[in-house]
Amino acid sequence: MSPCECYKHAEDIAAEAQPFYQQLPHDHVLRTLMEEHAQILGFLRDLEACAADIQTMDKMEGESEFIHRIEFLSRHLLETERHHIREEIALLTRLAEAHHSTITVRLRKEHDVLGVKKRQFSNLVLRLYTMYFQEFKQQFSSLAEDVIAGLRDHIEYEDQTIYPLAYQVLSPADWEAARSECDRIGYCCFTPGEHHHLREINTLAR
Ligand SMILES: [Fe+2]
Ligand SMILES: [Fe+2]
Repeated sequence: MSPCECYKHAEDIAAEAQPFYQQLPHDHVLRTLMEEHAQILGFLRDLEACAADIQTMDKMEGESEFIHRIEFLSRHLLETERHHIREEIALLTRLAEAHHSTITVRLRKEHDVLGVKKRQFSNLVLRLYTMYFQEFKQQFSSLAEDVIAGLRDHIEYEDQTIYPLAYQVLSPADWEAARSECDRIGYCCFTPGEHHHLREINTLAR
């Protein structure tokens, strides 16, 4: 399968990454998840730009560049579900067990809330041609704001707190098992690196 147009090389992402990422061994599960975070943050920046652009519009032009941008974002936001499924099955379950805590509960709840918001956003984009523009604009702005704030906050908590904690408490055997599970579940169209080709193996997310 050829890479999606969103595809970036891991090296391009690594260049801007934070110190915790830099210390992770090559091919570590957390490295892949953090590379996906960098991609998702890029989608959120694009969504923020679309949310600003729509404020200056008073109608939607058919087949416009703006429509292509929001359709692209809608597809890619839904694609992040596979990242969340991998986190829940391969990482959070193991972390809750090893850490003997409920620290992962917040993240599971946020995945659920974000999942609903992303589906609402996707449904809204599908209704683009059948809604009054002012109503579309209002719903678009509100959903974009929720998705941007919710996902940024979620990713920051994982990058700063949850992933470093997991790196401390999980064993090498845990990480090996987690990688096999991730391979079985499959990756996203925007996952950089050699795991990209395994996305077709996915059996759970579709
Ligand atoms: Fe997550
Ligand atoms: Fe994540």
